[in-house]
Amino acid sequence: EARKDNGATLGAHEEYDASGAVVAKQAKKGVRDFVFGRTLGEGSYSTVLLATDRQTLKEYAVKILDKKHIIKEKKIKYVNIEKDTLNRLIEHPGIVRLYYTFQDASSLYYVLDIASGGELLGVLKKIGSFDEECTRFYGAQILDAIEHMHNRGVIHRDLKPENVLLDDQMHIKITDFGTAKLLPDPRTARDPSSYDPAGGEEESTRARSFVGTAEYVSPELLTDKNACKASDLWAFGCIIYQLLAGRPPFKAVNEYQTFQKIVGLEYDFPPGFPPAARDLVERLLVLDPQRRLTLEHIKNHEFFDGIIWGRGLWRQKAPRLK
Ligand code: ADE
Repeated sequence: EARKDNGATLGAHEEYDASGAVVAKQAKKGVRDFVFGRTLGEGSYSTVLLATDRQTLKEYAVKILDKKHIIKEKKIKYVNIEKDTLNRLIEHPGIVRLYYTFQDASSLYYVLDIASGGELLGVLKKIGSFDEECTRFYGAQILDAIEHMHNRGVIHRDLKPENVLLDDQMHIKITDFGTAKLLPDPRTARDPSSYDPAGGEEESTRARSFVGTAEYVSPELLTDKNACKASDLWAFGCIIYQLLAGRPPFKAVNEYQTFQKIVGLEYDFPPGFPPAARDLVERLLVLDPQRRLTLEHIKNHEFFDGIIWGRGLWRQKAPRLK
């Protein structure tokens, strides 16, 4: 497995071939290796700028995090989670890839894949809602990326259309792993039989405060303060609903009332909602995470009939949005 050390404290950057041999060595990239351009996005702890590598002219999205702000707000843990998670998820077309990290006196820099199509939410808002074909295609790509994360022991915990970006081919790239939960990597765990694909976790994950976004948060996180892999599949159900309906299933004037609706499973389908999609959503928006469809069951659900799962999904031309 090719891997790359993106440690900000290391002085050299190495590249490996498939056998693990060092094939290239160069000085670690730094701020001076890039020409910074326009702002692509802004978060509470970061700004994302367009940047061009001076040597290769390749464009990236560089996430710049302000150290003082991170320390003051006690977010160091989340900054490291994001980096560790991205380093574990490299080499999937549906996940924003981390190429380099470095820092200067004031900031941390994460050099990421650029997703020039912006957020899936923006596209959705522009056209109102997706038809069944577009929802099937984007749903399948999102699910394939979730499968990759889960297979590598990552629970995203904040899946929503704002965190699904689109590249120049209008293929998805999932971003924002700052609130992800890292489980022991099943591929490197000492005892593979202890790997629990249902995502049942240790007590270290309990008694944790709310992370995520109100409209997509799973009921188990609200009632037990515990997220598992199935919590990402609840959010996936909310996203499928939203693509077709044009609005998330649970929405109220404030967070508290949104939470009330979620734990009461208070939602309904607009007229004309496709029956196969309705059946899928109803099997995902299930209060008990153990009774929710598993990833494998979702892939085999009739809503995804005709989808060829795996790498072919990423070579396919995106359907025209309508
Ligand atoms: N905004 C936030 N992250 C981005 C990315 N990777 N590409 C484009 N815009 C972004």
